[in-house]
Order: sequence, then C-alpha cells, then structure tokens
Amino acid sequence: MEIARPSRTALGVAVRRACHQIHDSSPLVLDDPIAIPILGDTYRQAIDDSAASINDRFSLAMRAWLVARNRYAEDKLAEAVAHGVQQYILLGAGLDTFAHRNPYPDLKIFEVDHPSTQRWKRDLLVSSQLPEPTNLHYVPVDFELQSIARQLEESCLDFTAPTVFARLGVVLYLTHTAFRSAIDLIATFPAGSGVIFDYALPRHALAAHELEARDTLSARVASIGEPFQLFFTPEEIAGELSGFSVLEDLDASALNYRYFANRTDQLSLLGRSANIISAWR
Ligand SMILES: C[S@@+](CC[C@H](N)C(=O)[O-])C[C@H]1O[C@@H](n2cnc3c(N)ncnc32)[C@H](O)[C@@H]1O
Repeated sequence: MEIARPSRTALGVAVRRACHQIHDSSPLVLDDPIAIPILGDTYRQAIDDSAASINDRFSLAMRAWLVARNRYAEDKLAEAVAHGVQQYILLGAGLDTFAHRNPYPDLKIFEVDHPSTQRWKRDLLVSSQLPEPTNLHYVPVDFELQSIARQLEESCLDFTAPTVFARLGVVLYLTHTAFRSAIDLIATFPAGSGVIFDYALPRHALAAHELEARDTLSARVASIGEPFQLFFTPEEIAGELSGFSVLEDLDASALNYRYFANRTDQLSLLGRSANIISAWR
C-alpha cells in the first residue's frame, strides 16, 4: 500500500456493502444500518454510480463475497462471545462498521489499520456525524513497517485474555513476513482465541474461466496502488496455521450453501477464487 494515501480498496468494499443494503432482497446477508451513513455525502455518488452495473454477474458475485465474509466473521465472533470472549481486534479495519453496531456491551473492540486509512475513516465519521463508540480503541499500524504487538501494548488490550481477530480483505495485499507476524502474535493468545481471515488462491489453482475475472481485478487494484501479492492453496494455509487446533476453511460453494441458499434474488458467489477461514487456539 502507498504510505500517504488511505486505502482505496477499503472504500470499494464499503460501497459494495452499502449497495447490498439498497439493492439486494431481504433477508440481507449482512444487515448493516451503518453501511450507508458511514459513507456520508462524501461518497454518496459512488453508491449511485454502482447502480448501473448492480446486477452484472461479476458485481453480484463480488458483493456476495464481501458481505459473506463480514457475516461469517460476525457469526464466529457471536459464538466466541457466547463462550466468554470480550476482546475483538479488526486487523486492517477499513470502513468496517461492526463497532458501530456492536450488540455486546462488554466487548472491547480494537481497530488496527494503516495510519492514513485510519485517519481518513475517523475524519469520515466526523463528517458523517457518527460518534465513535466508547469501547472502540484505534491502533494505527503499518503492518509492513511496524510491530502489531508493540503498537497494541500502547492500548488497553489484555494479552492474557481470549481474543478474536478478524483480518478481512487484507492478507492478499501483504508480504509473507507481515502475514506471518500477525499469525505468530495471535498464536500467543490463550485458548478460546481465534482468527478469521480470507485468502486468495494462486492463479495456477484457478479454472481457465476464472482467470479473466482475477486478472481484471488484479490489474484494477494494482492501478490504484494496492497490488495483490500473497496467495495460498488450502494445503499451504493449513500448514501456516499449525499452531491452531480447529480450522474451518470455506470455499465459495460452502458459503453459497450457508448464506445464499433459497434466495429470491441472484446474489451468490461464483468460482473458487478465495476462501474464508477461522482458526482457533
Ligand atoms: C480491502 S481493504 C479491507 C478493509 C476491511 N477489512 C473491510 O473488509 O472492509 C484492505 C485494508 O487493509 C489495510 N492494509 C493494507 N496494507 C496494510 C498495511 N501495510 N498496514 C496496515 N494496513 C494495511 C488497508 O488500510 C485497508 O483497511
């Protein structure tokens, strides 16, 4: 990611979550009443501009993927909270709105993000007149240049308490070193802790008909300064997570079965370009 500029991909993801609230049928996969307000007047036009292609197959599949990964993380968090977890850390939070919809009064939330993206989000909250929740803590970190642990030490995080981490839409923008350092940190947290993240499959693991969509998307994100650079096969990711005991790794068809069966609209995932995983201590 370029150093001085907020993440443009974070905006793209947030616009698609907002479009889900307007254009997709009930029940929504991610019911997020803050998804539109957080964009405020500043990005209202971006929502309107998406309308023309809203039901294109690629647009539907991308929106389905983005809302499913948030929903999955929030479902896993709900299970963990039911087992007593009281800390949630969003690594690369972007414009995620969970902290503003948090139904758990005792949950402490930490949004860890690149300093320029985090500053932009906080300015956007002010201009959109959304107050910052009192149990939300901001931790600015450049994952490539700084230690997440050291920056978290400056916050009120309890390193001895079970903690859930979510890292959505982030891994494929990182170097392997930055990816590993977070996994190694999470592995030091006590039993009951876990991480939810998505990863992209390498090009050689994709079917021929999936390559065009991947290449188009790769070129688009590279052109805005956020190139894809880290890919895993399911076997490789299982190897990376050897310090964790329970793994759930869902591909597009598993997500379609879980979240998109019986819908009355066309919203569903396509292909097998990326998976979402949860791993628990
Ligand atoms: C595609 S956005 C996803 C945002 C959010 N998780 C979501 O799903 O809406 C990628 C996020 O990764 C963060 N990111 C990418 N590279 C980073 C780095 N080197 N250090 C810190 N954050 C980084 C960006 O700031 C951005 O918030």
